[in-house]
Amino acid sequence: MRTQVAIIGAGPAGLLLGQLLHKQGIDNIILERQTADYVLGRIRAGVIEQVTMDLLDQAGVGARMHADGLIHDGVQICVDGTRHRLSLKDLTGKTVMVYGQTEITKDLMDGRATVGAPTIYSANDVSLHDMFGDRPRVTYSSKGEPREIVCDFIAGCDGFHGVSRQSVPTEAITAYERVYPLGWLGILSDTPPVSDELMYVRHPRGFALCSMRSPTRSRYYIQCSLADDVAAWPDQRFWDALKPRLDEQAQAALVTGPSIEKSIAPLRSFVAEPMRFGRLFLAGDAAHIVPPTGAKGLNLAASDVQYLSHALVEHYVEKSDAGLDRYSERALKRIWKAERFSWWMTMTLHRISDNAFDHQLQLAELDYLFRSKSAAAAFAENYVGLPY
Ligand code: APR
Ligand code: PHB
Repeated sequence: MRTQVAIIGAGPAGLLLGQLLHKQGIDNIILERQTADYVLGRIRAGVIEQVTMDLLDQAGVGARMHADGLIHDGVQICVDGTRHRLSLKDLTGKTVMVYGQTEITKDLMDGRATVGAPTIYSANDVSLHDMFGDRPRVTYSSKGEPREIVCDFIAGCDGFHGVSRQSVPTEAITAYERVYPLGWLGILSDTPPVSDELMYVRHPRGFALCSMRSPTRSRYYIQCSLADDVAAWPDQRFWDALKPRLDEQAQAALVTGPSIEKSIAPLRSFVAEPMRFGRLFLAGDAAHIVPPTGAKGLNLAASDVQYLSHALVEHYVEKSDAGLDRYSERALKRIWKAERFSWWMTMTLHRISDNAFDHQLQLAELDYLFRSKSAAAAFAENYVGLPY
C-alpha cells in the first residue's frame, strides 16, 4: 500500500491529524494496535481549551461538542475547607469546555468513517523502517497477514508506550522526566456534580478534584499511593475519603452513588526532544506526558497536531519544508510551558511530602494566587491555554 502520511495510533492525536490532513486532500492511513471499542473504553480528562475547540471545528467534528459540552467561565480551588473562585472569563476573556475525551475520540472516529478515510484496527507488530531515508515504510500484520505501507512521512501518535519513539536510536533522543510519588484514583458516577464548575482541592489529607461529564454525571479523583490497588477501594471507602477534603457547602451537596468506572493513574512529567527524526514526527503522548492536574494532555496533543498538519500542508501545497523544519522547536516551546504549569499545579495542590515547610509554601502560593490579580491572571492564562 502507498499513502502520503502513515499515522501510528488512533488516539485523539492520530485521529485529529488524520482528519485535518484529509480535509486538505492529503492521503493518510491510521494503524491502531487495539480495536475501536477498546480505544473508546478508555476514560480520560475532559477540559478543552478554546484553541482545541477551534481545531475540532476545523476538522469538522465539533457539532456534538457544541451541543453537549459545558462551557465553564471559571474554576474553583478549595484550600483546607475554604473555596475560592477564579473567573477565567474576567481574567482572560476566554472560557474552557468540559467535554470528555472519550466523546471527542468518538466524534473523530465518526468523522473519519463519514469521509471514508482508512483506519486499520488490531494492527499487530507495527514496525517503522527507513525514517531517515526518502521512502519510509511501516510494516505490520493484520488478521495474521504481513502488510507494508510505503509513505512520505510517518506521524508517531501512538502514546507514551507506543513503538514510534522506541524506534528512534536512543542516542538521538534526550528524555526529561519527573515521576511523582503518587497517583490519582478516579471514579465516574451517575450523580449530579457538587458544583457547576470544576473544583480542585488542596487538603492536609491530600488532593481531590470534583469534575463532571454532564449535569447528571460526575467525575471525582483523590490522591492515592502508587502502591494502592483499585480492588482495595470499594465505593464507600472512596466517598469517605473524598468528603472530608471538601468545603462544607460541597460536603452538603455531595451525592454519592455506585461507580461506573474506577481506575488509578500514575502522575508523570515527561518530554522527549526533539520531536522529529528524519521523516518521523512524534505528536501527543508519544513525545510528552503531563500530570493530569492542569488538564493539558489532550490540549497539547491538539497543539502538536495543529503545527504538524500546517507543516505538512505547507510541504504538499506550497512546496516549502519550513514548517516541517521548525515543527519540533515550535511544538516544544508550548509543551514546556504546559509542563511547567502542570508541574506547578501538581506541586501546589498535592500532599507530596510530610515537610511542614513545603506545606507552608503551598499555602503561600495559593494565598498569593487568590489575592494578586496578576497571579490570578497568569494562572487563568495558562489554564485556558496559551496561544499557538
Ligand atoms: N501500534 C499501533 N498503535 C499503537 C501502538 C502500536 N505499537 N502503541 C500504541 N498504539 C495506540 C494506542 O492503542 C492508542 O490508541 O496509539 C494510541 C495512542 O493514543 P493516546 O494514548 O490517547 O495518545 P494521544 O493520541 O497522543 O492522546 C493524547 O490522550 O492519553 C491521553 O493524556 C493523554 O489526553 C492526552 C491525550
Ligand atoms: C476530568 O474531568 O477528568 C479532569 C478534569 C480536570 C483535570 C483532570 C481531569 O485537571
